[in-house]
Amino acid sequence: MYKLIDGKAVSASVKESIRKELAELKETKGLTAGLAVIIVGEDPASKVYVRNKKLACEACGFESFEYALPADTTQEELLNLINKLNNDDKVDGILCQLPLPKHLDEKLVINNISPKKDVDAFHPENVGQIMIGDYNYLPCTPAGVMELIASTGVEISGKECVVVGRSNIVGKPMAMLLLHQSGTVTICHSRTKDLAECCRRADILVAAVGVPNLITGDMVKEGAVVIDVGMNRLDNGKLCGDVEFETAKEKASYITPVPGGVGPMTIAMLMKNTLTSAKTKLK
Ligand code: GUN
Repeated sequence: MYKLIDGKAVSASVKESIRKELAELKETKGLTAGLAVIIVGEDPASKVYVRNKKLACEACGFESFEYALPADTTQEELLNLINKLNNDDKVDGILCQLPLPKHLDEKLVINNISPKKDVDAFHPENVGQIMIGDYNYLPCTPAGVMELIASTGVEISGKECVVVGRSNIVGKPMAMLLLHQSGTVTICHSRTKDLAECCRRADILVAAVGVPNLITGDMVKEGAVVIDVGMNRLDNGKLCGDVEFETAKEKASYITPVPGGVGPMTIAMLMKNTLTSAKTKLK
């Protein structure tokens, strides 16, 4: 019998502890904390994410600064804004919502955000620190997945961990975080010869490929922890993960739903990184 991993509940408890810690630091040390969120263009999914980030800031007690820029914003205008925010003491974290319109260079944008304010942990300096295992910020989605696994009480050390997907934002850092916890980690991707066989080895299976219902119950080991990072919009408007929930749940010991699993955790971890950044002003 599977147990559902309630991402909303875990996220609420992380955000509540952040709210408490920030309130106390405001009171005792006069600490302020602010997050700047930049969105360029009109992508509907991005607009929803940005609105949720703003709401989370309010709930935790952060100031939020929103920059909604038109789709024809130039590279120079965007870099000028980032430079201004890098030098603004009220801004502890800077997040530029991806994807950007095609004419803008995402790599250049990421590289221009100060690593100290890079609460996404996308800057090469922060990525390098994660590789070494000596970091200030963890990327929000993989860090959220780690919290969800921790919430099950299942030990990672020595377990077979399979990550499906090799993106810079999720798959690669996810594998690294599982490795830091002494998991035996395999990364699968579109060229993997026998995906089903690989997945069936997993005690902990993390799907982050963006292919609706790719992972079916026959690919899940009996008793596995199954984490679904997928957020796919189907033609009928419904959200669906990378895991076929109805069949996978019959095998899993713990499984995340979509929505309500990993999604809420990404934002909670963003709040955590923003607080971490603000706290460096106390030193
Ligand atoms: N687009 C989708 N997920 C993310 C994220 O975690 N950070 C940013 N900046 N953009 C995203």
